[in-house]
Amino acid sequence: MRGLIIIITMLFLGLQGCAPKAIDFEQTSPREKIVLTFSHVVSDASPKGRAARLWADLVYQRSGGRVEMKIYPNGTLYKDGEELEALKKGYVQIIAPATSKLTGLDERWGVFDLPFFFNDLEQVHQMADGPVGELLRKSMREMGIEVLAFWDNGFKILTADRPLKNLKDFQGLKIRIMDSPILKMQFLKLGAIPVPLSFNEVFEALENKKVNGSENTPSNLYSKKFYQLQSHVTVSNHGYLGYAVLMNRDYFNSLDQETKKILLETLKEVTAWQRKIALEQNAEDLARIRNDQNIKIHDLTPEEKEAWQAVLKPLVYEITPLFPKNLQSEILKIGNLN
Ligand code: LMR
Repeated sequence: MRGLIIIITMLFLGLQGCAPKAIDFEQTSPREKIVLTFSHVVSDASPKGRAARLWADLVYQRSGGRVEMKIYPNGTLYKDGEELEALKKGYVQIIAPATSKLTGLDERWGVFDLPFFFNDLEQVHQMADGPVGELLRKSMREMGIEVLAFWDNGFKILTADRPLKNLKDFQGLKIRIMDSPILKMQFLKLGAIPVPLSFNEVFEALENKKVNGSENTPSNLYSKKFYQLQSHVTVSNHGYLGYAVLMNRDYFNSLDQETKKILLETLKEVTAWQRKIALEQNAEDLARIRNDQNIKIHDLTPEEKEAWQAVLKPLVYEITPLFPKNLQSEILKIGNLN
């Protein structure tokens, strides 16, 4: 019996040793080496992955090797649904989830999900960099999370096991979505069945036909080869996908001024670069997808688009009431309502 108790105790202690330790958020001294962990779910070759690497390299150089950022791509450290909790607990210092995935914390993030609302990335940036973005930053700060930047991916297109042209084509289509109320409503309005899945589950779900459609940007579809599991792509550009670069607030506040300055000034430069290369990369990856002889590509015609828009544009009125009055008009001013 005593032997058994000792074994159980040893096993318990062993497991405790493996558990991630919470960070001690004491003020760091300027000379102390700082190691930050940045976890994300996409490929290193994606616009987010490339920007994370560049940020890490520049910060390392500019701090003379004192500030090191360790990047864990492809959900190898934390997956969707885990990474926000890990950030809050201080197991990881930086994450950059899609804004859609922040709707569980504050539904107003869904403003970036609105279908056919943004004409171009400039309008998205107006929203993110203006008072609406500021309100979302404040709301996150109150939850212990610092929003350091907004990064782009781009506009989403659709993949399916059938052509998607007319509204009737969506009937019964099980389509993978990021877990966001607006995205759910978007596909319900189209007559499809939205299935929220984390990014790491998408390949298998498409392969095993648990879902028979997906929406994503060309760069995500190309880098993860999702499109190869489907017969049809519709170039719809119906909605935006972008990211908030987030840091644990207590951890951020515990950093010395010099480190904060290097991190933030570098991030500003990297963000400008990131937004440029995200646009370029999505155009290049879409061209690569178009070149694949096994996929049938359909560019949404103006008439088809009009029919989709008639159903989807009113979703803006689901989200505006969640904002204060002055921001409701701000949102409606930015977007495309005609
Ligand atoms: C997705 O889940 O489809 C995307 O949010 C992945 C990403 O981070 O781009």
